[in-house]
Amino acid sequence: MKVLFITSNRGKFEEARKIGEKYGVEVEWKREEYEEYQGNSLEEIAEKSAMVLSKKIGEPFFIEDSGLFIDALNGFPGPYSSYVFKTIGNEGILKLMEGKDNREARFIAVVAYFDGEKISTFRGEVKGEISKEMRGMHGFGYDPIFLYDGKTFAEMGDEKNKVSHRRKALENFFSSIFNQ
Ligand code: IMP
Repeated sequence: MKVLFITSNRGKFEEARKIGEKYGVEVEWKREEYEEYQGNSLEEIAEKSAMVLSKKIGEPFFIEDSGLFIDALNGFPGPYSSYVFKTIGNEGILKLMEGKDNREARFIAVVAYFDGEKISTFRGEVKGEISKEMRGMHGFGYDPIFLYDGKTFAEMGDEKNKVSHRRKALENFFSSIFNQ
């Protein structure tokens, strides 16, 4: 079984390829930037984006959309994580968190899969906290400010991929669709 993963991010593809192998699924990389629709939830964004892509791609594919949800900021940046990272970045988030006692946060990932007829979504989530300063050299995006078990994701290196939101969403997806 072969399935396309549409993403411009090599790291995301590599992670999905390895997990796919466990389920006997060959994940093929379609390296493409696509228009990401705005919406109030990651599910809505991923589903709308997949719907548009399905009009031009005539075979099974999936995409993945993720975000950081901070409790003390009522879930911000959430569905706007990508834009917020490009604009205010980690420094901006740390500023917004100054003086906040509750530092709990979650990364959420949603996979949207088009099977040739319909779209289904799968979710993965990891809980952590926002650190007081940036730490670590690995990873990307919000990794240097996301604390998991005392270390930031950027300090964890490959260990991050064992517990990440993306890992959980992908496992959820592969086990539901290909492991029957
Ligand atoms: P997207 O799913 O690639 O659109 O990701 C949305 C935003 O969330 C990106 O700008 C990333 O900075 C951030 N993000 C998503 N997943 C992760 C992660 O695993 N670590 C750190 N930041 C992430």
